[in-house]
Amino acid sequence: MPNEKSSPSATDAHSATGAPVPTPRLAIVGVGNCASTLVQGLTWYRRNRTDIGLMHPQVGNLSVGDIRLACAFDIDERKVGRPLAEALFAAPNNSRVFCPNPDDDGAMVFAGARADGVAAHLENFAPEMRAVPDARSNTTSLEQVVEILKATKANILINYLPVGSQLATEFYAHACLAAGIAMVNCIPVFIASDAGWAAKFAAANLPLVGDDVKSQFGATIIHRQLMALAEARGITIDSSYQLNVGGNTDFLNMLERSRLGSKKTSKTEAVNSQLHQPLDAQHIHIGPSDYIPFLADQKICYVRINAHGFGGLPMEVDLKLTVEDSPNSAGVVVDAIRCAWLALEHGIGGPLVEVSAALMKHPPQQMADTAAAAAMDKWIANHVPGPRR
Ligand SMILES: NC(=O)c1ccc[n+]([C@@H]2O[C@H](COP(=O)([O-])OP(=O)(O)OC[C@H]3O[C@@H](n4cnc5c(N)ncnc54)[C@H](O)[C@@H]3O)[C@@H](O)[C@H]2O)c1
Repeated sequence: MPNEKSSPSATDAHSATGAPVPTPRLAIVGVGNCASTLVQGLTWYRRNRTDIGLMHPQVGNLSVGDIRLACAFDIDERKVGRPLAEALFAAPNNSRVFCPNPDDDGAMVFAGARADGVAAHLENFAPEMRAVPDARSNTTSLEQVVEILKATKANILINYLPVGSQLATEFYAHACLAAGIAMVNCIPVFIASDAGWAAKFAAANLPLVGDDVKSQFGATIIHRQLMALAEARGITIDSSYQLNVGGNTDFLNMLERSRLGSKKTSKTEAVNSQLHQPLDAQHIHIGPSDYIPFLADQKICYVRINAHGFGGLPMEVDLKLTVEDSPNSAGVVVDAIRCAWLALEHGIGGPLVEVSAALMKHPPQQMADTAAAAAMDKWIANHVPGPRR
């Protein structure tokens, strides 16, 4: 196993001349479980120098450990005002700790703008399970956020807000445009897949990757592949469901059904888009199903496919998948960040179509998984930078 003690320097990379090499510098919006596993992972890969668990050990000339941290925004009083490396482990975060003392490059957590980030029903739950809003998040302005993004030299903002945060996501998208930085939108609010927002980022020549990050080996990718495989083998699919349960704040937030509209659309389209004959709405059901506190960051997914095969005879698939939820998305996000960085270096703006198709559930353009992965690899190969300055 890799050994955390073999830690090289945590400072920015330097060229042969000693000049600092420009790197992706993240602004993280939402210091929840996904942010925790992402930040832990950056240090873990920097220290251990291993390819375990990575789809792309290198993207262009960047390793995962080359991604650095600039600042973060949250609205929880247990996180705001603290160094990012401490805030990651504050309640109600409950993802697995696999790197207990991560580097945060001096990034602090600032008060974000709350907008619609906190669902009203959360007040019925104990503080150790839910966000506790910080009063400062009532008054944070766009100008303040833009100033922080510029002062900390952030160049890519990553959106990890709770599902249903339409207004808050739009606020931070505006902040990206005003600060002149790229955006990776990991949540099912439609930005990259919305023509209006896509045009704004294209006009500003800023890269945009989205929307709603796929897990590395999760419910969506497995369900998509199974359905496409059945269809390709001549099986007629009658109906299918995907039920998901978990015990993190993401699942708690999604108990409020009114916040789920775009999540359901994103997850259902992600599966149905793989079929030549998509199922009608009455015959496909996909979504988060319940919150089970003792599962913590573990997610359990049940997939069922009802179908008919040769001679019209029936067949069924029942599949159960158990995963740690948050690290399963971090493995994809580290690729999205490095592609956004390649685009910045090449002066490419607007939605990154191939990258989004490979890494996101609701991209501007859906593709079959293998075609999307090949298209993204080709895009990366076409945008490999020269030797580091
Ligand atoms: N496998 C995965 O984990 C996965 C996959 C796809 C999408 N996502 C999405 O990623 C998002 C983040 O997931 P998570 O598990 O980290 O959620 P989380 O609930 O642990 O974290 C959300 C964080 O956002 C903060 N927040 C709320 N409103 C805010 C605001 N207006 N400004 C700044 N911060 C605010 C909360 O205090 C909390 O710290 C969710 O929307 C989730 O659905 C996760």
